[in-house]
Amino acid sequence: MCGIVGYVGQRPVIDVLLGGLKRLEYRGYDSAGVAFFQDDLIEIRKSEGKLANVEKLMNGSRNSYPDARCGIGHTRWATHGKPTTQNAHPHRTGHVVLVHNGIIENYQEIKRDLISRGHKPQSETDSELFGFLVLEEMENGLGLFEAVRKSFSLLEGQCSVVVMSEREPGTVVGVRNGSPLVAGLDPNGGAILASDAQPILEYTNEVFFLENGDIALCSQGGIQFFDLKTGKKLNREKTKLDWSVDKIDKQGFDHYMLKEIYEQPAALVDTLNGILDRIKTDPFPLAAQPGVKLLDQAKEIIFVACGTSWHAALVGKYWIERLARIPVNVELASEFRYRDPVLNPGALVVGLSQSGETADTLAVIREVKAKGIPTLGITNVRGSTLSREANSVFYTSAGPEIGVAATKTFSTQMLVLLLWAGYLGLKKSNLEELFHDIVKLPHQIEDALSESNGMVAAIKDAARGLQKAKGFFFIGRGFSFPIALEGALKLKEIAYVHAEGYAAGELKHGPIAMIDQDMVVVVLAPQDSWRDKTVSNLQEVKARGAKILAVGGGLDQNLKELSDFWIPLAPSTEALLPFVMTTVVQLLSYELAVLKGTDIDKPRNLAKSVTVE
Ligand code: M6R
Repeated sequence: MCGIVGYVGQRPVIDVLLGGLKRLEYRGYDSAGVAFFQDDLIEIRKSEGKLANVEKLMNGSRNSYPDARCGIGHTRWATHGKPTTQNAHPHRTGHVVLVHNGIIENYQEIKRDLISRGHKPQSETDSELFGFLVLEEMENGLGLFEAVRKSFSLLEGQCSVVVMSEREPGTVVGVRNGSPLVAGLDPNGGAILASDAQPILEYTNEVFFLENGDIALCSQGGIQFFDLKTGKKLNREKTKLDWSVDKIDKQGFDHYMLKEIYEQPAALVDTLNGILDRIKTDPFPLAAQPGVKLLDQAKEIIFVACGTSWHAALVGKYWIERLARIPVNVELASEFRYRDPVLNPGALVVGLSQSGETADTLAVIREVKAKGIPTLGITNVRGSTLSREANSVFYTSAGPEIGVAATKTFSTQMLVLLLWAGYLGLKKSNLEELFHDIVKLPHQIEDALSESNGMVAAIKDAARGLQKAKGFFFIGRGFSFPIALEGALKLKEIAYVHAEGYAAGELKHGPIAMIDQDMVVVVLAPQDSWRDKTVSNLQEVKARGAKILAVGGGLDQNLKELSDFWIPLAPSTEALLPFVMTTVVQLLSYELAVLKGTDIDKPRNLAKSVTVE
């Protein structure tokens, strides 16, 4: 997940690029860079670390190249290659300079071909390779626009690029295919491209949301859109962003909850940056922090938590036991504290709480700490009571969560636990691959949430079709079981609809008696090792008349045919499926709540942090 800006117009470009990148820095800040035309040549300034480092390279001033009027910029979240200056964007290949957001899946194949044709890529990135493809096409006589169009057809995966060439000063070409790209016309003349609307709003509130397969040609004269495959000109409608102060706060979303669901990719990026030491070589170690020592010593882990945090801990149990073979117990804090539990030597008690202020969780931490048992906290709030009272703490970095429903804090809690599982498991087995996958997670969630992906539209359809249902069961096995619990909790909490989460195999031990045609069963059956068993449970409730909303792998035709409503998931490795499914159950509850007209951000009877027992 990276941030892109491109501009050509009448304004000093350095100011536009640095100002725009500042607003996009939430998308990644491993490294950053800008490229701009000085006369007919392109200059590049880039650096590892935050954007401020690039600002320093511009003689400390955004006005240092006042005559430059055309350029591109980038702020990076590294997926291929370490966050170094060499891997930072923009990348130059001869006279071609580009920035890229997303993943080129067939980069190894492309790299092999390029090397066999005598090219020498300088960085470890997949992005740089695209420049060679464009260069070759230009050397064969194509103009920049056609060269980008043709070269892009060789790429597999979801990404966006913005490209310039010294052969065509004053032209910026952008392509969207998966990763977002938005465009706007500068009222002073020229055009701007960016990964979201925020950098553009500074100049105009009328924007064009590029669709997948769009290619945009920007010049001093404005912007034109074309179909990437056919090259035919397209008419793209402007969207007027009429944002009130309140909406600016919610960044255009109708509710904080929705905004926070969409902030998950950025929250995952920030949490990864906080926990992993990504400067070191793969597989990335956990960043040195006192909590790591406590983890290393644990012979058994006991999680105590409430509500959504308890669900995150349940997912963590599956991961830690599976990957690290350390026994894990997950306890409801309100029960554990009064149960007089047995605490074995070597046990580590972990309080999991986004607010760090939940009374029951804190009470457990205090009590076990007084007994000399080591305690760890995982919280989103620096300085919270949990962070101060536990022996040590790990932070999620989800940023402020205003909606009472926990969304991005849940995903980031799961991420911390997956990193723990990977870290602890690495000592025992070869888990490098897992860390490579985790680094791609924010990007994967961003794709899943993008309107063009199909998942969001399917969820909206399902919500419309199911808004009158009298009750819901959410069922799943393995990692999907805690996600089923979370789905049911969300639906109760914000839509006030009765819902229960169940382990799929448990339905026939009682609750199946409730199934009839007014009951909806949400079946979480992604392509994992539990899929077939869950589908058998689906058949049992379907035979009794339940309406089925199935969530599964996009190519799972059998599952689709068994369902009344179908939500396809993009392909994902098994470890990352809980994150993708989480977005489904969050959005489903949200859409049902919108249709019911409830107070989504402040559901009745609830508070964001529960400081009483
Ligand atoms: O702050 P905590 O994570 O300790 O809060 C625990 C629960 O109160 C919380 O997760 C609650 O269940 C959420 N509002 C659910 O969305």
